[in-house]
Amino acid sequence: MSLTPPPDQDIVIFGVSGDLAARKLLPALYNLSAEGLLPRQGDIIGAAPVAWSDDQLREGARSAISQFSRTGLDEAAFTAFAARLRFVRPGDEGGLASLREALTRPRRLIYLAVPPSAFTSVIDALHAADLAAGTSVIIEKPFGHDLESARALNAALHAVFPEERIFRIDHYLGKETVQNIMVLRFGNTVLERVWNRDCVAHVEITVAESLGVEHRGAFYEETGAIRDIVQNHLFQLLAMVAMDPPVGFDALSLRNEKIKVLRAVRPIRPDQVVRGQYTAGEIDGQPVPGYREEPGVSSGSTTETYAALRLRIDSWRWARVPFTLRTGKRLRQRDSRVVVVFHDVPLHLFSGTGIESIDHNRLEVRVQPDEGIDLTFVAKRPGPDLETQTVSMDFSYGDSFKTSPPEAYERLLHDALCADHTLFIREDEVERGWEIVEPILRSPPAPVFYPAGSWGPAEADALAVHGRWHDPSGT
Ligand SMILES: NC(=O)c1ccc[n+]([C@@H]2O[C@H](COP(=O)([O-])OP(=O)(O)OC[C@H]3O[C@@H](n4cnc5c(N)ncnc54)[C@H](OP(=O)(O)O)[C@@H]3O)[C@@H](O)[C@H]2O)c1
Repeated sequence: MSLTPPPDQDIVIFGVSGDLAARKLLPALYNLSAEGLLPRQGDIIGAAPVAWSDDQLREGARSAISQFSRTGLDEAAFTAFAARLRFVRPGDEGGLASLREALTRPRRLIYLAVPPSAFTSVIDALHAADLAAGTSVIIEKPFGHDLESARALNAALHAVFPEERIFRIDHYLGKETVQNIMVLRFGNTVLERVWNRDCVAHVEITVAESLGVEHRGAFYEETGAIRDIVQNHLFQLLAMVAMDPPVGFDALSLRNEKIKVLRAVRPIRPDQVVRGQYTAGEIDGQPVPGYREEPGVSSGSTTETYAALRLRIDSWRWARVPFTLRTGKRLRQRDSRVVVVFHDVPLHLFSGTGIESIDHNRLEVRVQPDEGIDLTFVAKRPGPDLETQTVSMDFSYGDSFKTSPPEAYERLLHDALCADHTLFIREDEVERGWEIVEPILRSPPAPVFYPAGSWGPAEADALAVHGRWHDPSGT
């Protein structure tokens, strides 16, 4: 992230009274403001159908920032931030004359933090109010519900905005650890030489949550884990891990390499997918209800809260290397990580000494929490006998940099303000993601059940290499 303020412009948040604005966007903008990383000139304009005043927006922002900002709230920094906040209410027919009058600059970034059903009406209203010129838009996931709706949304966007003014956000790409996958791979010569089928036995990618659906049961019923996580976060992680080295660190080069990976994913067979749904169980010793007992969820729901997939990437680099991906809610612990498992040694030199097998080398990228990288290898245990033990070299962000990484939304908002697309998703990536999961969405395998607090359904073990997924809790 460049440490200079972006060009002067207004910032508009549609849906400023919503959950995303309170938990992520207002705290991120506040932290950028405190660090001098907002445009020097320009207002922050919140829009929503509620009847708020500027002061009510400021009070809402104060409460959101106190609660959710990673740095807390500093009075002086908040006063400077709040002075830029304005509220506008769209007209009863969704007209945006009030927004046009509130704008202070010829250029603006508009964040569509509204329900997906409102995306196209807001885009059309921007067009009708003659606000398309000078506007860039950030659009939230879910980007479509399937391939057809994603194409329709892309067409609606392109009818008003050129691709270079559209920023499709996947906040995973704003995480330091996800960006560090690129630095790890392309900033170090030792890894790139072994990052291929000659040395890698398999790759496992996990996005595990211990939370359930919280208050979003009705939304989740229409979504499920494949739409919510696999099609976007998991495929973006897959593309970062599996892509070839780009010719430059710019949006075009990087996104060209990511799409090549997604295009090379072989069509998924139904027996390579397991869908699961959590039943009642315990998380951290506390009883939690099953998915079907959550508010807003049907008692006979077949929506998956867990999905595991086994993929192949048909490329020279990855031919015959299994990639296993899984995600779920109410799993034992929150844990997102990439595990790259290297081949077994070609010859067991120590087999005559009673050591029948030794662990494969493993590189783990911990995306969250406890962000870091871990390389495991085998060492001789001290003593007269030849005994081996698996040990690890561990890099932890907290220990090495003595700082917590900035929030993904800070980085991504700053990049969009600077018109940098490197960490945003291109139209073809979104559509290819839907194409890959489309066969599962069309005829989904029935969900199997797993108790909350477990690592998912036992049936998913059949997809894991050697029948066992990596257990981050080490139990
Ligand atoms: N919350 C998250 O953590 C999260 C994470 C990833 C993606 N997202 C995506 O981000 C978007 C917002 O999510 P959310 O959780 O903040 O939803 P939310 O809590 O339901 O808030 C939606 C906001 O949009 C407003 N709104 C609805 N129609 C509008 C319109 N036509 N013009 C202007 N404002 C309008 C709502 O106002 P009223 O309440 O007055 O209707 C509310 O302020 C959704 O697309 C969601 O899928 C959210």
